[in-house]
Amino acid sequence: MVKVAVLASGSGSNFENLVLATKDGRASKFQIELLIVDKGSAFALERAKKLGVEALHIDPKGYVDKNAFESKIIEILEKKDIQLLALAGYMRIVGEKLLNRYRGRLINIHPAYLPEFPGKDGIGDAFKAGVKETGVTIHFVDEGIDTGEIIYQERVKIDEGMELEALKERIHAVEHRIYPMVLENLSEKN
Ligand code: GRF
Repeated sequence: MVKVAVLASGSGSNFENLVLATKDGRASKFQIELLIVDKGSAFALERAKKLGVEALHIDPKGYVDKNAFESKIIEILEKKDIQLLALAGYMRIVGEKLLNRYRGRLINIHPAYLPEFPGKDGIGDAFKAGVKETGVTIHFVDEGIDTGEIIYQERVKIDEGMELEALKERIHAVEHRIYPMVLENLSEKN
């Protein structure tokens, strides 16, 4: 069983879905051991409580710099023998400390068809650009912003006259289908 930790900053629907996938039979090769959030207000914390998954708030403000903050995260991950680290709405750029420790075992989900629409608002940017299709990408994390090697991606159609909210829902539905699937595949190889 591969031990996975999720890093998030916000709502945590992907985190919750990954946990549910390990309970409803969609995934059997990995276990979500831990949630780490960098924001005390992250709704992901509520979800973890309800699901009975251990969750920690590590506040970057409590550390002198990014290295110190990430060293703390690494210390926690190592104590729990975490083998794979999955970012799910983690709104910080991963620094060299964490990256070097987990390179090749650190993945991210991005709500656009990379390299199209990288950055903080992949859904909004595609919507504003008026393109007919966007997508979802799962990739390894590297030094850049949403630039690491692509593991899996799928196209998502934007219908004529579609509202932004409807597009968000459509993208999240794809995310919730493919993130457990990709983690399961990676876990098999681990
Ligand atoms: C997702 O759209 C993910 O692709 C992006 O951040 C969002 C997180 O959503 N990186 P949630 O917190 O999992 O609901």
